[in-house]
Amino acid sequence: MIEIPTPRVTATHPPRILFLYGSLRKRSYSRLLAEEAARIITEMGADTRFYDPAELPLVDSVGADHPKVVELRDLCEWSEGQVWSSPERHGAITGVLKNQIDWIPLNIGAVRPTQGRTLAVMQVSGGSQSFNAVNTLRLLGRWMRMFTIPNQSSVPKAYEQFEEDGRMKDSPFRDRVVDVMEELYKFTMLLRDQVPFLTDRYSERKEATAKAVAETASKATS
Ligand SMILES: Cc1cc2nc3c(=O)[nH]c(=O)nc-3n(C[C@H](O)[C@H](O)[C@H](O)COP(=O)(O)O)c2cc1C
Repeated sequence: MIEIPTPRVTATHPPRILFLYGSLRKRSYSRLLAEEAARIITEMGADTRFYDPAELPLVDSVGADHPKVVELRDLCEWSEGQVWSSPERHGAITGVLKNQIDWIPLNIGAVRPTQGRTLAVMQVSGGSQSFNAVNTLRLLGRWMRMFTIPNQSSVPKAYEQFEEDGRMKDSPFRDRVVDVMEELYKFTMLLRDQVPFLTDRYSERKEATAKAVAETASKATS
């Protein structure tokens, strides 16, 4: 018999949403898209933070005690939900975005910086509407064991969609961003208290029991 614990709902604080983006360009539309989304979800009542990927070394080129790596991992741990916004480049996400994900381990001891968090994915393109980057981000979300919400945002010809001051123009694409943020807010409220419940796995319990038995046996024979 596999026992399933009863879920609890207790948190009342504003949902904590971390934004990651995948471009270092001065006028980066994927960053502007993330900033617009952050303004929207802040208005809904969320607490938002951004990670600046500039100066993050390539994965494994320095130790995990590098300040930019520590900052990224701390922000992930703080977050209850995340938004990943990447440009589409050559039909894929950028190395800037992927490098950030590659620095986030599934486990740091008992800490799981992404597992059980909600995730919304967004992309900008220079060409007509495309879904290559959001599809890849979904794949990465699964790999990081996150709950990627069904809705997503893909902004084509991004250079036409933003004002000089960086705000997104009113359009069906912006309306979609509001929909995505609303959905992320709701899913985060529903799921955030359930992370221990949702990430408690039979196979891991089995492994822990086997390890404990082996340790007891080894102590008994030494
Ligand atoms: C090297 C390169 C490859 C690109 N590949 C694509 C592509 O495959 N599809 C597309 O729609 N746009 C492509 N673009 C356009 C970018 O998606 C567009 O410039 C976008 O605004 C870049 O994101 P950013 O403004 O956040 O830097 C490419 C741009 C560059 C420089």
